[in-house]
Amino acid sequence: MTVRVDLNISLDGFATTTDQTPENPFGEDWSRLVHTYVSTRTFRERVLHDTSGTGTTGINDDYAQAYFAELGAEIMGAGMFGLHDHQDDPDWRGWWGKEPPFRVPVFVLTHTPRPTIEFDNGTTFTFIDAAPEEALATAIAAAGGRDVRVGGGPTTVKQFLRAGLVDQLHVAIVPILLGRGIRLWDDLRGLESGYTISSEAAESGVIHLTLRR
Ligand SMILES: NC(=O)c1ccc[n+]([C@@H]2O[C@H](COP(=O)([O-])OP(=O)(O)OC[C@H]3O[C@@H](n4cnc5c(N)ncnc54)[C@H](OP(=O)(O)O)[C@@H]3O)[C@@H](O)[C@H]2O)c1
Repeated sequence: MTVRVDLNISLDGFATTTDQTPENPFGEDWSRLVHTYVSTRTFRERVLHDTSGTGTTGINDDYAQAYFAELGAEIMGAGMFGLHDHQDDPDWRGWWGKEPPFRVPVFVLTHTPRPTIEFDNGTTFTFIDAAPEEALATAIAAAGGRDVRVGGGPTTVKQFLRAGLVDQLHVAIVPILLGRGIRLWDDLRGLESGYTISSEAAESGVIHLTLRR
């Protein structure tokens, strides 16, 4: 059982974007940040339900496959689930439509829990107000011996990194500069100690950096 993080970050370390508008709710920077990941065959199949076999293969797709492999449970923050954008909507079920790509129990950290949401494909969203250690114990119990991923966003991931709870951190460093947003690396001086570090460059210019215990 491995506790994993997988994030796309910009060259300057940002894992969120800030150029969203009502007309363009994800903003242009979001597509710049996740373009290579979203273009992979695996993402297209698993998240967009595109069964045409289109999408890139190669190094980026290998990491996209690894993103979904061996997953037993997921932890995410209220921001990633969209609670902050939809706090007045009791029927909000997340961004992912009728078939969220997780297919496992997902624990959403929030100070304002709401009832659990269930989907036919095995995805459940359970809202919990818990410290990282407690949330992780809950997710491990639900994961059936498989991995737990701390999915994001960066505010949540940083709590788990600071608490020393992450066994494997993979970041896809995308060669763009965002200049603003929430940076993954702030207040984590010396994080690399205790990890073995490897990196791999994809044809797209994305650098896949992995820290493993
Ligand atoms: N680059 C990537 O690969 C990637 C991956 C995933 C997500 N994202 C992006 O990340 C953004 C969201 O990230 P974010 O950092 O703003 O927010 P976040 O980490 O998703 O959520 C933070 C919020 O979760 C709740 N929370 C966190 N820890 C908690 C705890 N221990 N107990 C109770 N509640 C807790 C709090 O919300 P409340 O106090 O309101 O309850 C907190 O404000 C989105 O824009 C998403 O698109 C990027």
